Amino acid sequence: MRPLARVCVGLICLSGLAGCGADGAGDVDTSPAPTLGAQTRVGSSQIEAGRQAYNTYCVGCHGENGDGKGEAAVFLHPKPRDFQRANFKFSSTRAGSLPTHDDLRRTITEGLKGTAMPGWEFLRPATVDALIQYIKTFSPRWTRKPGAPIPFVIDPYGDLPDKSTAIHRGEVVYHGYANCWTCHPSYVSEARINEHLEAMENSRRTEFRPGLFESAGMPNSEGETVFPTDFKRDFVRAGTDVEDLYRSIAAGITGTAMPSWIDSMEFLSAKPSGGPLVRQADVWAMAYYVQNLIRQRPAKFTGGSPKIRNRVQRIFLHGEPPSDSTRSPEGGTATLEEEFEDD
Ligand code: HEC
Ligand code: HEC
Repeated sequence: MRPLARVCVGLICLSGLAGCGADGAGDVDTSPAPTLGAQTRVGSSQIEAGRQAYNTYCVGCHGENGDGKGEAAVFLHPKPRDFQRANFKFSSTRAGSLPTHDDLRRTITEGLKGTAMPGWEFLRPATVDALIQYIKTFSPRWTRKPGAPIPFVIDPYGDLPDKSTAIHRGEVVYHGYANCWTCHPSYVSEARINEHLEAMENSRRTEFRPGLFESAGMPNSEGETVFPTDFKRDFVRAGTDVEDLYRSIAAGITGTAMPSWIDSMEFLSAKPSGGPLVRQADVWAMAYYVQNLIRQRPAKFTGGSPKIRNRVQRIFLHGEPPSDSTRSPEGGTATLEEEFEDD
C-alpha cells in the first residue's frame, strides 16, 4: 500500500531528523523561511522539522500550502482542514476562537474518529510540537492569541457510581432547555419533549421540525453540508470520554452551527420559589446523557457517509423516535469497541 510505504519511509527520515535536532545545536541553520502566515517567535529549526514531518505525513490530505487540497482530499468527506483559513473545530476555547497548543496536540495524536484524520500517537512529542508550529505558518490569524479555555466547573456527578441522575437531568436539559434537537435528533417522543419544555419553564409546542428524529443537514463555514451528530449512529470525533463531551458541548465547534453553551447555562427560575433553573454544571449532565446515547449504539451499524445515510433515513417519522433496529441496519464494519478502544 502506497500510503503505508510513505509513512514507513517517513518514520526512517524522521528518526534521523529528530537525532539531528537533538545533537546539532551549533549547526548553521539553512532552513528556508516559511513563506506564508505568521509565527515569527519560534526557532526556524523547529519550523523546518515541522515542515519535513508535515511533508511526510500530512501533505497528502492537507496540501502543500496547507489549503486542505492534498491529493486525497477529493475523495474525503469531511474535507481535510484548510490551515490557511484556520477554522479549527475541536478546542477547549469558545467556538470562533483559535485552539490552544494542547488542543492541537490532542487532535493530532488522537485523530478524529469517523473521519480520514488518523491519530498520530507514534510521533515523538517534539515532532508533534514542531508540526503544530509549522501549521501555524499557514495563516496570519496566528498572530493573535488563542482564546481563553472554557471553565471546567466541578462535575457534581463525578463521585457518584450510578450516573442515572445525571443522565436523566441531561435528557431534560437537552430536550427542554438547550433544544439540541433543533439540529441533532430528538431521542424522545414529541409528547416527552413537551414535558421537558414545561419542566424548563418553556411553552409547549404543537409543531416540530420535519425529520425530528434525525439530524438536520446544514452548511458549515466552508459551504460543505454537515450533519450534526446522531449520537446513536455516528462517530463522535473529538472523543467519547465525559470530559471530551463536556469540552465539545461547553466550547462548541468553530465554523459550524454548533454554538458554545457554557455562557448560556446560568438561569434562575421565574417562579416565586426561585432557585436556579440551569447551571453550568448541567453541561456535565448533558455530557453523561450524550455518552449514554453513544453507548446504546448497536455494535454493528452501517457507517457510510452521513449524506447518503440521511437521505435513506428520510422517511416520514412523526410523534415517536424510530426503534433502534430501524436506526441501525445490520452489516457495517465499524464497531462500538473501536470507538471506545482508548477508554
Ligand atoms: C488521510 C487524510 C489525512 C491525513 C494524512 C492527515 N489529516 Fe488532518 N485532517 C483530515 C481531515 C479529513 C480533517 C477534518 C476532520 C473534520 O472536519 O472533522 C483533518 C483535520 C485536522 C486538524 C483540525 C482539527 C480541528 O480541530 O479542526 C488538524 C490540526 C490536523 N488535521 C492536523 C494534521 C496533521 C498535523 C497531520 C499530519 C501529521 C494530518 N492532519 C494528517 C485528514 C487527514
Ligand atoms: C444550531 C445547530 C446545533 C445545535 C443547537 C447543537 N448542535 Fe451540536 N453540533 C452541531 C453540528 C453542525 C455539529 C457537527 C459539526 C461537524 O462535525 O462538522 C455538532 C456536533 C456536536 C457534538 C460532536 C462533537 C464531536 O466530537 O464530533 C456534540 C457532542 C454535540 N454537538 C452536542 C450538542 C448538544 C449537547 C447540544 C445542545 C446543548 C447541541 N450539540 C446543540 C450543531 C448543533
